[in-house]
Amino acid sequence: MKKFILDCDPGHDDAFAIMLAAQNLDLLGVTTVGGNGYLPNVTRNALVVLEKIGRTDIPVYPGHAGPSTTTLITAPNVHGKSGLDGPVVTEPIRKPESKHAVDFIVETVMNTDHVTLAATGPLTNIAAAINREPRIVDRVDALYIMGGGAYAGNWTPAAEFNIYVDAEAAYKVFHSGINLYMVGVNLTRQCPVTDEFKESMRSLGNIAGVFGAELCDFFARGGDARLHDACAVAWAIDPTLIQEAFLHVDIELNGTLTRGMTVTDLRFLQTDKCEADIDLTSTKKWNDPPEGSPFRGKEPNTHVAMRLDYPRFKELVLRTLKNYN
Ligand code: BDR
Ligand code: CA
Repeated sequence: MKKFILDCDPGHDDAFAIMLAAQNLDLLGVTTVGGNGYLPNVTRNALVVLEKIGRTDIPVYPGHAGPSTTTLITAPNVHGKSGLDGPVVTEPIRKPESKHAVDFIVETVMNTDHVTLAATGPLTNIAAAINREPRIVDRVDALYIMGGGAYAGNWTPAAEFNIYVDAEAAYKVFHSGINLYMVGVNLTRQCPVTDEFKESMRSLGNIAGVFGAELCDFFARGGDARLHDACAVAWAIDPTLIQEAFLHVDIELNGTLTRGMTVTDLRFLQTDKCEADIDLTSTKKWNDPPEGSPFRGKEPNTHVAMRLDYPRFKELVLRTLKNYN
């Protein structure tokens, strides 16, 4: 199993990411970051999830409370006041570790070969870890993120929540040279929380299954929700669940309408076609301006998630929930 660190801001879909990682990967630690909720809440929520599934052996390290250059934006409209509203849970018995998340990430990556990172909240901790110890970029096998979108956003028309909240951190990560896998909203919209999916969880009848269904009852109360963060961890578990395109992605920091956009160079994929027809294997450059032109495409830096095998993704989630007592 891959050695894994999950940086997150639980968050209903982060809770599924934790449950997937704790069972299917060698989860060395969970680190938390201000995002969906304030840091004390999301840290408490990570502890709640791990206690629910009986994995109190996995340590939780609190990280940065918010971005260093902008004010934190949270999402109580999506995740409720606690960040994990819905299921009735008992307060965690366990306390978080006293070590800072960034210290844990840097020390673990520098002392352990073949660590895979995932981030399902704003990239504040990951950028801070790269700033602290740039060598981690070449030490890790990969970084999987839930964030951005190849075409559009969800928090603003152009930007997805995690990237928008700390665009400067995202810029640092996307420019670092790390082996980056981006699961954006173009992918996660293929992963709806349907009534059928939710009821399949509930009918498992065990603690984890009912917990999953109750998380979805709240999360999908508006009738439209996606298990965004679970997709990023699922990709790390099973690379065949997602088809990718290797593309250049950059972060917009200054746009008045587009700040936080993951500007994805799709010209390579001939996107005058409709999305379903895009040839992900195409190697033909499309409309590339001449050498020397500032508009010429840059080298790919990101594995961009494009297509999800939704039936097999659901199987993975259900099998995982079932395997917890
Ligand atoms: C992302 O924002 C949060 O609400 C979710 O947990 C997910 O990480 C989706 O835009
Ligand atoms: Ca999240």
